[in-house]
Amino acid sequence: MHANSRTGLILGIESSCDETAAAVVRAGSAALSNVVASQISLHANYGGVVPELASREHLRNIVPVVREAMARAGVGFDDLDAVAVTEGPGLAGALLVGITYAKALAWGIGKPLIGVNHLEGHIHAVLMEARQDLKEAMELPLLALVVSGGHTHLYLATQDRDLATQKRDLARRSDEGAWSYRNVGRTVDDAAGEAYDKVAKLLGLGYPGGPWMDALAVRGNPRAVPFHFGQIKPRVHCEGISMPNKKAPVTSGGPTFDFSFSGIKTAVLRYVETHAMRESVEARRKALAAMGGAKPGIEAVAGLCDAQTLDLIASFQYAVVGNLLRQTFAAAEAFGARGVVVSGGVAANSELRRRFQAEADRRGLPVAFPSLALSTDNAAMIAAAAWPKFVAGDFASEELAATPQLRLGQA
Ligand code: KG4
Ligand code: ZN
Repeated sequence: MHANSRTGLILGIESSCDETAAAVVRAGSAALSNVVASQISLHANYGGVVPELASREHLRNIVPVVREAMARAGVGFDDLDAVAVTEGPGLAGALLVGITYAKALAWGIGKPLIGVNHLEGHIHAVLMEARQDLKEAMELPLLALVVSGGHTHLYLATQDRDLATQKRDLARRSDEGAWSYRNVGRTVDDAAGEAYDKVAKLLGLGYPGGPWMDALAVRGNPRAVPFHFGQIKPRVHCEGISMPNKKAPVTSGGPTFDFSFSGIKTAVLRYVETHAMRESVEARRKALAAMGGAKPGIEAVAGLCDAQTLDLIASFQYAVVGNLLRQTFAAAEAFGARGVVVSGGVAANSELRRRFQAEADRRGLPVAFPSLALSTDNAAMIAAAAWPKFVAGDFASEELAATPQLRLGQA
């Protein structure tokens, strides 16, 4: 092993969706730099991520973004101990840009390459900061909710802390053993962030809709429209793939911690149609389009929303956050989790943070969220997740490929 490995400097690279990101992180806990080039304004014109455009933008941005991350960290390529890159899940063409670049770089500078699952990265965004704030590791196992535009997953996460003890000569902290995950819940259709974005779109709001809905929800009555989430049918296992069993009665198969968000999206659409809101939606869409791509302030957007729209937004958010909260804490209780972590773009939601914190306090369970900058996609989380793999010598081969449907842990 390289003499320099005690410093544990890892360059992380992330390009799974619409952010090109690079970061240098020391020993999985201190981010020396964290650079994100967002493509949001490009995709906003289309109301969602266009895969072909995303790949082109990654290709354009990857070199300057990595250079910037290295410069801000004040380190050179020789100082690095490893290069880590997101191998999936994500858009194939987008992942390929980061992986190809990372492979070439690692090969060129003679450093190991580490493949990281994007979802594991989201979990480590929280762990990395919690380690700094709490001064010691959270008790295990943890129940992790990863909730974003592409994912809504619940994992039971634990770590082999014995391995860390054996490797103490390499590891300076006591919490660097390999992590393992069990997937105990997932969405059977839309992700929560996707539901936010689709509902925002059908209400004539800009993309991505989550932050707008969050900011507008506080102005409406969350109890105005009662939305309900039905029970999800248990999954069947078919050739190794687990999928919802549409024919099974909901009572069989024990508790499920799965989610479904397509129903509430349809319910909002029906509400808009049955309450003659179409005209006001169109007026709002036109007024925002007339701003010619300039990002409006929240007062301007709120001024385009009548009380009925604000109540609908507040009620949608109240129901979605309530559903995420119930499933997460029910799973935490069922699996005896000692703490809860929430991450991914939707973890930036203010109501979600407030209600999760209140519920965790009520139950006497610690809960942790990433800072807002690390809630959405970034590369610091990829470099942080790579650290225990680096300590364990878990390196990728030259054949590392993009895996768009990559899963995390056992179901
Ligand atoms: O983690 P992320 O950057 O990308 C994915 O991996 O999907 O998450 C983006 C998603 C979008 O759906 C966006 O609308 C949602 O996170 N989001 C929010 C908020 N901020 C971002 N949803 C609700 N409230 C927010 N404050
Ligand atoms: Zn993500």
